[in-house]
Amino acid sequence: MLSSSSAVRIRKGHPDDGAALAEIFRESWLHTYRSIIPPLHLETMIRRRGADWWSGAIRSGDLVDLLEFDGKPVGYGTYGPSRVRGPYKGEIYELYLIPAYQGLGFGEHLFEGCRAGLDARRLDGLIVWALAANTPAIDFYWRRGGRPHSSTHDRIGRARLEKISLVWP
Ligand SMILES: CC(C)(COP(=O)(O)OP(=O)(O)OC[C@H]1O[C@@H](n2cnc3c(N)ncnc32)[C@H](O)[C@@H]1OP(=O)(O)O)[C@@H](O)C(=O)NCCC(=O)NCCS
Repeated sequence: MLSSSSAVRIRKGHPDDGAALAEIFRESWLHTYRSIIPPLHLETMIRRRGADWWSGAIRSGDLVDLLEFDGKPVGYGTYGPSRVRGPYKGEIYELYLIPAYQGLGFGEHLFEGCRAGLDARRLDGLIVWALAANTPAIDFYWRRGGRPHSSTHDRIGRARLEKISLVWP
């Protein structure tokens, strides 16, 4: 367990963070979705999100916060306007940490950083989406006050994956 958070920093992502983001994405997605998303599709999704994809996303205005530990980027959060119409104006699209840095309280920092970013843009009311099979993520959001709101399905290859939204009024 960490005794201090003094080495932890949240900062805005820059286009030259592309390689670091691609690496966090790859490690975290392999670990999280290995037993959920069919392997070939998972590999394709990871390949698409290389360094250039990330640099381009940041250049085009996507909001990305990085979490650094001892100067090394180990997690990120992306957020912005909700993708579905309704009373929940802000959405955290993605929150991912390298597996070795999970369970240490860093996710909480990132989550609060994303919320502050949404508040600053007056995007009130938060929604997040997670695959129903990703129970650790659902538990994480539940313990931060999110409550299940709706569900839908994504089809990835032959798999039909249930997605759940959680909301904070
Ligand atoms: C989901 C995720 C972002 C959560 O981040 P995390 O850093 O693992 O979560 P935290 O450590 O902040 O919180 C988990 C628990 O650790 C506890 N914790 C806090 N500080 C701690 C410390 N110093 N040492 C150990 N545990 C600590 C927290 O109290 C928290 O418990 P609680 O939820 O009962 O309050 C992260 O696990 C992750 O990247 N998972 C894989 C990707 C994923 O599923 N993302 C979501 C997709 S929708």
